[in-house]
Amino acid sequence: MPESILLSPPPVFFIRSISEQGYTLSTAIADLIDNSLSAGATRIEILLDAHIIPLKIFIADNGSGMTSDDLTENMRFPSADLEIERNSNDLGRFGLGLKTASFSQSRKFTVISRKDSIKYQGRTWDVEYLKDTEDWTLIIEDDKNVTDLIEDYKHVSTNFHEHNADFEVNTLVIWEDLYKLEKLLKRNEINDELEDLRSHLGLIFHRFIQKGEVQIRLNNSLIEGFEPFPDHFPGVQTVSENYWQTGDVYIRFQGIILPKRSAAEAKESPSVWVPAGLTLEELQGIYVYRNERLINYGGWFRAIAKSIYLQFGRIRIDITNINDSEFHLNVAKSWLKIPFGLKRAMNEMVNHVAAQAAKEYRERLASTFIRFGSSSKGLSLIVKETGAGGPVLKINAEFELLRRLKNELSLGQSELLNTLVSLLENKLNEIWQGETNTLEITEEMSGTVKDKIIKIKKYYEESDYSWEEIRTLLLDSFGRKRNAELFIDSLNIK
Ligand SMILES: Nc1ncnc2c1ncn2[C@@H]1O[C@H](COP(=O)(O)OP(=O)(O)OP(=O)(O)O)[C@@H](O)[C@H]1O
Ligand SMILES: [Mg+2]
Repeated sequence: MPESILLSPPPVFFIRSISEQGYTLSTAIADLIDNSLSAGATRIEILLDAHIIPLKIFIADNGSGMTSDDLTENMRFPSADLEIERNSNDLGRFGLGLKTASFSQSRKFTVISRKDSIKYQGRTWDVEYLKDTEDWTLIIEDDKNVTDLIEDYKHVSTNFHEHNADFEVNTLVIWEDLYKLEKLLKRNEINDELEDLRSHLGLIFHRFIQKGEVQIRLNNSLIEGFEPFPDHFPGVQTVSENYWQTGDVYIRFQGIILPKRSAAEAKESPSVWVPAGLTLEELQGIYVYRNERLINYGGWFRAIAKSIYLQFGRIRIDITNINDSEFHLNVAKSWLKIPFGLKRAMNEMVNHVAAQAAKEYRERLASTFIRFGSSSKGLSLIVKETGAGGPVLKINAEFELLRRLKNELSLGQSELLNTLVSLLENKLNEIWQGETNTLEITEEMSGTVKDKIIKIKKYYEESDYSWEEIRTLLLDSFGRKRNAELFIDSLNIK
């Protein structure tokens, strides 16, 4: 036997460090709701009365509850071995969430629970008490404290109208010494936090809520589920689902493209396109659901960059807890990693959704500056035409002022004007296409482009610009087309 000493972690240091897992108030409460759902709760109640100082948060559920012994064991850091296989509908994984989520927001928390309607039991972790005892001393609440805490909870609940008297509480978690929230001194900041929380929970748990499996109330008002994939809505394009096989499991992914009208409609509240407080831009990208619970959203997992042009694109992936080790779920259950194999399998869909979303966005942009529905052509300054490489914007030659001007000009002046117009058109299309611009100078275009370049060169040379300056201008005007540099140099017009 090697020489050894017992080296246990000092509880207070350990708790402070392990609780900084990147939780926010929303992700911490979501972690507790996971527990309630895994325990079969059909009703969950979250209460925070910002008028009662010191602040307290109550999270109550009518799930199966815990026996006295289970309750003690489940307060342990961690309470279960991560390697043990879990039920297919269990949202837990680490045996930590209850403790880390609670300590991420509070310095003292109590769990009160009962099973099969047997008497409530209470257990408390309190950092102040741990400082005194310098050991892992869990407080066993006496009957009076348990009753007082339940009364306290009922009191806060009845303070809000629509109190649910028929709600059978089996487990109640109470967070005290809310060291993060207490820093938000102004009550409206706390209210902002609560609004965020409402949006977050409505999104994260929308499948449970919308299937009618659970009702979640925040300060006694029901949280509505928000479906980020409104497939059945008019104008929404769906991309047929695809699968990636890993072991015996098939992982499903599927994309949608929102219609351009969603950009304007998202500003209304309520909106089917975005939950309150969030924008389309924030909601683009890949959504991963684990056991029906949304883990993360709002980005493309570095497959492509987030951009205003992609705000109409969304893709969902469905995994279960069988896939956990491959996806590297974090303790706060707000982040995971997509395995390379799945990323590769999704490549085509990501590109397709991105291209379609960008197209839809360009249509929207065009609709803001093209005048539609007019029979008199002279009224539209900009028109959209379909060229060889897809749609392009043009300055309308029939635009009344332009038409008139041309009539007044000599041949040489008219040519100058045409060159200027075509430079403007280039810029206009670049702005319109944004980062999604993939245009190239094609064989078909090359004749016209060459003519334009030669003309620009001529005008600038006449005004004594050097070739270097002219080349810079040409690159600036045609440069976003990927092969422009090669093309300009190949013309040999120096
Ligand atoms: N509201 C609840 N109702 C019934 N049992 C609960 C409740 N909350 C927690 N438990 C029990 O306590 C255990 C520990 O919870 P905890 O959140 O710490 O870990 P976990 O859910 O197992 O895993 P994870 O760290 O992924 O959340 C749970 O596995 C569950 O058995
Ligand atoms: Mg948990």
